[in-house]
Amino acid sequence: MCIFVHMIDNIKAHLKDVAAFTPNTASEVEQFRIDYLGKKGHITKLFADFRNVPNEEKKEYGQLLNQLKAEAFAKVKASQTELSGSQSKSTMDDISRPGQPIPLGARHPISIVRERVIDVFSRIGYGLSSGPEVEDDWHNFTALNLPEHHPARDMQDTFFVQTDPDVLLRTHTSSVQVRHMESNQPPIRILSPGRVFRNEAISARSHCVFHQIEGLYIDKNVSFADLKQTLMYFTKAIFGTAEIRLRPSYFPFTEPSAEVDIYWGIENKADYRITKGTGWLEIMGCGMVDTNVLTNCGIDAEEYSGFAFGMGLERMAMLLHQIEDIRVFYDNDVRFLKQFTPLS
Ligand code: DAH
Repeated sequence: MCIFVHMIDNIKAHLKDVAAFTPNTASEVEQFRIDYLGKKGHITKLFADFRNVPNEEKKEYGQLLNQLKAEAFAKVKASQTELSGSQSKSTMDDISRPGQPIPLGARHPISIVRERVIDVFSRIGYGLSSGPEVEDDWHNFTALNLPEHHPARDMQDTFFVQTDPDVLLRTHTSSVQVRHMESNQPPIRILSPGRVFRNEAISARSHCVFHQIEGLYIDKNVSFADLKQTLMYFTKAIFGTAEIRLRPSYFPFTEPSAEVDIYWGIENKADYRITKGTGWLEIMGCGMVDTNVLTNCGIDAEEYSGFAFGMGLERMAMLLHQIEDIRVFYDNDVRFLKQFTPLS
């Protein structure tokens, strides 16, 4: 009997504790739940003691125990709702609370280089022009003096869309020249950045998707000397040197055509490797726009002349940041991307 009275008192003491429990945090509620309702909690133990209660008192003990269980359960539920409610309420109430930090992304190195090139040319009056990535044969090839069966088409392995040979992914941004000249008359001064596609195996040096920037300048009396001055201005701004070399080359859409090399120097092994031991580095193609191209695009080749140039942005970024594998630009590894900040 004596033991039993003690057991009843014990439940009554628990009932008082449960009623008095006023938690301030969710973890206090959780601890309370474990203490009372957990597998090894008070209530389980009290149920286990039930068999020691004398028969005539089992009823009272059982009722009190069920009451304790119900009250503990209700307390947990009520506290949980109250705390979650008050939390969101206080967040709403205090609008001066500092917000949660949002992790910052990083500018992609290709975007950084593209913006730099655009910035340099915008200072000498170049605007932007864009065209579609899915092109037709005329804008990507034929209008650029690359008629059907022209051997130079093989220089750019093409992705055709479905089986229609007239629908393709542009192999270069020179297609935008054509579109721009078709709908604008000189003076023309544009840059066309964009994505281009070539059916090539992916390796450290080449990718089937990459970026180019095309430049086009058409006006009266534009000469090769103007082209050279423009290129020197550009290489000085981007690479810090105006020491360039124009190597005769061939592109169907320009005549004469040249590859632009900058003097990089050979100071270490890496310089030796990337310049193939010459100290010179090829950075882009250029030339005077072929009169056939002007005519194809509805521009009077007697009255106007102009130059064009085209460069690969991955190549620029690789040179400027000593990156050796083109594939890293497409891996989207934040640890790689975070290293680049826009250069002023
Ligand atoms: N379209 C050429 C290519 O993708 C690059 C190029 C060379 C563009 C000479 C030009 C140019 O405008 O004049 O390889």
